[in-house]
Amino acid sequence: MHIESPPVSFEPRLEPPEDFSTLEEQLWPGGTRRDSRGELTLAGHQVSDLVAQYGTPLYVIDEADFRRRARSFTEHFPGWSIHYAGKSFLCRTVARWINEEGLCLDVCSGNELAVALSVGFPPERISLHGNNKTSEELRYGVKAGVGCIVVDSFDEIDRLRVISDDLGRPVPVMVRVTTGIHAETHQYVATSHEDQKFGLSIQSGQALKALLICHDQPQFDLLGIHSHIGSQILEVEGFARAAQITLSLVSQFQDATNDSIQEVNLGGGFGIAYVGSDEPWEMERLSDVLIRDVEKGCHYYDIPETKFAIEPGRAISGPPGVALYTVGTIKDVDIGEGFSRRYVSVDGGMSDNIRTALYDADYTATLANRTSVATPTLSRVVGIHCETGDVLVKDVYLPDDLALGDILAIPASGAYSRAMASNYNYALKPAVVGVVEGDTQVMLRRETLDDLLRLDQGEIGVGFEVEREV
Ligand code: LLP
Repeated sequence: MHIESPPVSFEPRLEPPEDFSTLEEQLWPGGTRRDSRGELTLAGHQVSDLVAQYGTPLYVIDEADFRRRARSFTEHFPGWSIHYAGKSFLCRTVARWINEEGLCLDVCSGNELAVALSVGFPPERISLHGNNKTSEELRYGVKAGVGCIVVDSFDEIDRLRVISDDLGRPVPVMVRVTTGIHAETHQYVATSHEDQKFGLSIQSGQALKALLICHDQPQFDLLGIHSHIGSQILEVEGFARAAQITLSLVSQFQDATNDSIQEVNLGGGFGIAYVGSDEPWEMERLSDVLIRDVEKGCHYYDIPETKFAIEPGRAISGPPGVALYTVGTIKDVDIGEGFSRRYVSVDGGMSDNIRTALYDADYTATLANRTSVATPTLSRVVGIHCETGDVLVKDVYLPDDLALGDILAIPASGAYSRAMASNYNYALKPAVVGVVEGDTQVMLRRETLDDLLRLDQGEIGVGFEVEREV
């Protein structure tokens, strides 16, 4: 066997922090502090108390920060509808917050819709998405009285026509379109170029064709056009260009029908900061640019009556979330050419946050139960799973005296982490706890092994009964 050292890929782009107790403000929920002993507190709760009560891995959501971000969209986009994208993170408590803050809700499955309806979320403020909704989901949405079904294909239009006839009522619809622009983001979350599964293309003429079908046929109440260009986009120009192309479609529709489009939904995708070097747009600037560009476009294309909507998910649910893990193993690995890399294994991993493994996402972490003045050591935070790619944080400086049992906190963890969790290696999905000053609430409880074993229909054999200390 030939043993050869792999080339050393060791390019620390990071600067070691000057001080482990400093928090980069843009990364943490508004209620995050270090107390006088250097421990991280979330809305006044010491992380060690949260961990003692709820265990790790643990997802903590700062409720005030979540609500503030939701409100910030409604305040900065006056007259626009703001739809929270539930796929980023949804549970009953979140649906309640979104309802109380007066936002609309975007759901992308019948089951997300069921969660929203279970707290009495007004169905007329819900839109139902999906590129392959089943007839059952469509019927459920129509019967529930959702405000809008965002149709994504001609097959779906056919299915809805049958459902409308069957239920004897017209279905409110928007047509999901693709503008053909290339969004500056990871290829897995770009959704507006031609070669992918979502929407109907404006360039090919399919989008206009679908609009005309929904306009002309009595089974449909055509509300408008929906365009979502992708996710975690930090360049606002993409949104502006997509808006212009979508408005050109509105104009074509007006010319073809002499009717107007009631609403254009420009989708979500507003990027957030995961690491200190990320620079998302300030809300003021984002809304100024988008509103101005849309107004210019409406003027240019002579579109007087159309209303606008956006659909942020991550920008509302991401920053208020912090993931807490316990350090279980620390290993210094010689990676050649005089370098070593410190692998810090924590008690979660790709089963509760697959984003690093899937999108090569950047995250950072901080020592949370205490602070330290020890030497910064370039570290990689990894999980418990049987995969080399089971990485949570690729590169982060942690103090050299990091010890087993220490708690690490990863900011910007509220969106698309617990929401995309799996049971790989029979990992139990972590609890999600909401915090406000003076109170905590379990939003989702931690899974138990019994939860998983209930799914297993195999016969239980005769085995050793070994008591586990949980
Ligand atoms: N509207 C539609 C139609 C969408 O498909 C999405 C996200 C959103 C709105 C909300 O996008 P946001 O504002 O959250 O970026 N799992 C990936 C992101 C997938 C996004 C899917 N669609 C990630 O972890 O980065």
